[in-house]
Amino acid sequence: MTAGPHPLRPPIAAPSILSADFARLPEEVAIADPARDWVHCDIMDHHFVPNLTFGPMIVGAVHRLTPAFLDVHLMVEHPERLVEEFRRAGADQMTVHLEACADPPAVLGRVRASGARVGLALKPGTPLAAAERFLGDLDLLLVMTVEPGFGGQRFMEDMLDKVRAARASRERLRADYLIEVDGGIAPDTARRSLEAGADVFVAGHSVFGEPHPAEALAALREAIGAAGARR
Ligand code: DX5
Ligand code: ZN
Repeated sequence: MTAGPHPLRPPIAAPSILSADFARLPEEVAIADPARDWVHCDIMDHHFVPNLTFGPMIVGAVHRLTPAFLDVHLMVEHPERLVEEFRRAGADQMTVHLEACADPPAVLGRVRASGARVGLALKPGTPLAAAERFLGDLDLLLVMTVEPGFGGQRFMEDMLDKVRAARASRERLRADYLIEVDGGIAPDTARRSLEAGADVFVAGHSVFGEPHPAEALAALREAIGAAGARR
């Protein structure tokens, strides 16, 4: 099921501003090409994950800086309480963690009702089977390829099996959710994730941790063959 703002045609690179220099946010955000890339915003609440990042104010600022599709990853407890506020700030898609939802259908329904696209994220230890009954209602399934909470961690190779399984489930269910990988993504790990069936590639450190982020993003796009046409 798809609804809400139009995404791009996969494969899609999604630079994560978690690793950006927030003192230079306009220049950092400007490397994303709205015709080819999403901008990924990591919301961490110091409860669901140990780290604490930013909220709707910064998402609103990013929205004013770029027309790019805003992919908001909610690593928070009680995500349902924040849906409308992030939507008003400019979130085009909100991805909630299955592990943070007391009532997943209600939370996913609330995101849908806000007008945003609906994503569901799985921590590395959460099997795909736990999400099986929600897959038909999703626009995006996020397979975490590190333990959520911090940028710059090492890609977990064994998550490629979960990506393959997510791809197989999509075909079996005739669903059309995009499969996103997030954590330790660089050109080499992106390429292996692409081969396993991923569509969207979130990258923080490998883009903004480089001396020339625009070039690093270009290398990621090239590795995945991001074409950038509308879906
Ligand atoms: C981690 C976040 C990621 C993070 C990825 O919990 O969800 O989006 O920005 O960072 P890298 O690409 O540095 O692993
Ligand atoms: Zn993320």
